[in-house]
Amino acid sequence: MITQAYRAQLLYFQADSPANEGTPLAPHPYHYESDGLLLVAEGKIIATGAYQTLQSRLDANCVLVDYRGKLIVPGFIDTHVHYPQTDIIASPAEGLLPWLAQYTFPTESQFHDPLHAREVADFFLDELLRCGTTTALVYCTVHPESAEAFFSASQARNTRMVAGKVLMDRYCPTGLQDTAEQGIHDSEQLIQRWHGTGRQLYAITPRFAPTSSPDQMQLAGELAARYPDTFIQTHVAENKKEIDWVRELFPEQRSYLAVYEHYGLLRPRTVLGHGIWLDEFDRACVRDSGASVAVCPTSNMFLGSGLFDFANADAARMPYALATDVGGGTSFSMLQTMHAAYSVARLNGVFLPGLQMFYLATLGAARQLGLSQQIGHFGAGTEADFIVLDPKATPLLARRSAQAGSLEELLFVLAVLGDDRAVAATYVAGEIQKS
Ligand code: GUN
Ligand code: ZN
Repeated sequence: MITQAYRAQLLYFQADSPANEGTPLAPHPYHYESDGLLLVAEGKIIATGAYQTLQSRLDANCVLVDYRGKLIVPGFIDTHVHYPQTDIIASPAEGLLPWLAQYTFPTESQFHDPLHAREVADFFLDELLRCGTTTALVYCTVHPESAEAFFSASQARNTRMVAGKVLMDRYCPTGLQDTAEQGIHDSEQLIQRWHGTGRQLYAITPRFAPTSSPDQMQLAGELAARYPDTFIQTHVAENKKEIDWVRELFPEQRSYLAVYEHYGLLRPRTVLGHGIWLDEFDRACVRDSGASVAVCPTSNMFLGSGLFDFANADAARMPYALATDVGGGTSFSMLQTMHAAYSVARLNGVFLPGLQMFYLATLGAARQLGLSQQIGHFGAGTEADFIVLDPKATPLLARRSAQAGSLEELLFVLAVLGDDRAVAATYVAGEIQKS
């Protein structure tokens, strides 16, 4: 029985079309209705189509919400973000390593306290939802309490989140260190408690090669092999000084990426943050392993890390999606992140169309995470995570979008001029969470 119906413009990319997989910049088939209807029951999508075609399925029990003039798309997916860094967003430093030492590690030290962790997690999740992000791949801190607080806060909102306790047993303040064995033990307990509980999923999270000993890396790879449907998240090839450091720490490895390969950490559901300085060999290795890259353009510009190479990533058919990387990133908004991705691509000679930016923030990310059966599009039976975008949200948006002569132009304008204000409503499993 249909219980909710939404009338609006509808857009989503087609998950049943394997064409162009692994080439995020290529055009991807999509469904668009200028006067559409989205039908939902029990938190799932029942059908989408033209209002004229589907209106006969509405009955007296059904609530029809009229969003005409607005655009409904799947909820955005942020493939790399740190919830404990919420309070240090917009903290300037001379680059990644000083930024970690001056701001990141001190703020993360507070997350041994479950009450603090829960308060930040609640704010963070509400902020994501305000910005239209319904799924994210989230770093907690080294403290298991930080992951426990995050999953509890997510479960209370019924959001589909992927998160993990950071593994970090060296080169950081003592209050932020685990040990190789304890870190793996805590991660395994969290997997058993949270991976697949409701909508929550677990990511094994070695922070990055410098802060995990070879022993910890080895044990993380073994844990990942024991739980093959968990996620793995880490950072790679973000910053030149970081890369030099990894070369000193792991001189026997061909590259930074090769460290993760060596320890069995590259596989489907591995998401590597940044990947700015990967070479051709690395890109092929990411592709062949089934892993993917989270592109973090606001962070890369803010920390001066570099410009992601969209053209060579596509040439290598290396999968990637978009991510905010808050607090290195400067916005929770995936619309702002699209704008930054556009600018980074443009500076590297690549044109990133509006349709591709929306693909990368929805179905492209769901595919990258191996979650396209559940989220990222409006195929029947998927989870009803969707957002309502208002092209008239601000006076400037209204003025500019009135001139948009095509869907492509409308999406482009939303990406460049839009932010949280353009998100009129966010629905999670069919329930409104922002209005
Ligand atoms: N590399 C290791 N840790 C971090 C982090 O917290 N943020 C970013 N941007 N890069 C990292
Ligand atoms: Zn990060």
